[in-house]
Amino acid sequence: ASKYTIAPSILSADFARLGEEVENVLAAGADTVHFDVMDNHYVPNLTIGPMVCSALRKYGIEAPIDVHLMVSPVDKIIGEFADAGASFITFHPEATEHVDRSLQLVRAAGCKSGLVFNPATSLDVLKYVMDKVDIVLLMSVNPGFGGQKFIPGTLDKLREARKMIDESGFDISLEIDGGVGPANIKEVAEAGADNFVAGSAIFNTEDYKATIDTMRAELAK
Ligand code: DX5
Ligand code: ZN
Repeated sequence: ASKYTIAPSILSADFARLGEEVENVLAAGADTVHFDVMDNHYVPNLTIGPMVCSALRKYGIEAPIDVHLMVSPVDKIIGEFADAGASFITFHPEATEHVDRSLQLVRAAGCKSGLVFNPATSLDVLKYVMDKVDIVLLMSVNPGFGGQKFIPGTLDKLREARKMIDESGFDISLEIDGGVGPANIKEVAEAGADNFVAGSAIFNTEDYKATIDTMRAELAK
């Protein structure tokens, strides 16, 4: 098995045919389902919530669902997503009053926990909660929309996060989200990422399998 995981962001899927889209992208070789939750408050866009997550479970989706919360407040919705079948729950430290408590709530609800850092957000808080995170997610675009351009400064930040994770000795995945696709996935992996979110790069192509195969071929280079 590859140490790399590919997580298509369903933000760019056809919402009118969501179950089928998720089924197809998993059949095409995706590892997890990246589920972007936006509240028109923390970010200027509005998407999907726990009901859609549980609908995917009822439809028969068994792959891990990677819930990326772009909502404020955070705590109230953690239990709702855990009940709805979420596997991972990540949130932005700015969006909650008490980061340590929110992380504990995620694990207590039976999910893997993670922190998400916006392009201009420092990684400082991470060092105090290394033992409470399973995932560190770096945003390589400003959150809110798919189809934006990868911010190059994120590569240095990935190296910084990789170093912190390796030095901590904890088993923490380093996820990258925004503007990732076949053209830059190798460079992003070399900077330290092991879990790649890709929305438009996958869903805006005709053949999901061909696109995911190309991404894996790039990683294997
Ligand atoms: C942006 C979301 C991303 C988005 C990525 O706020 O968190 O997951 O869907 O889309 P692409 O891959 O198109 O940049
Ligand atoms: Zn996301």
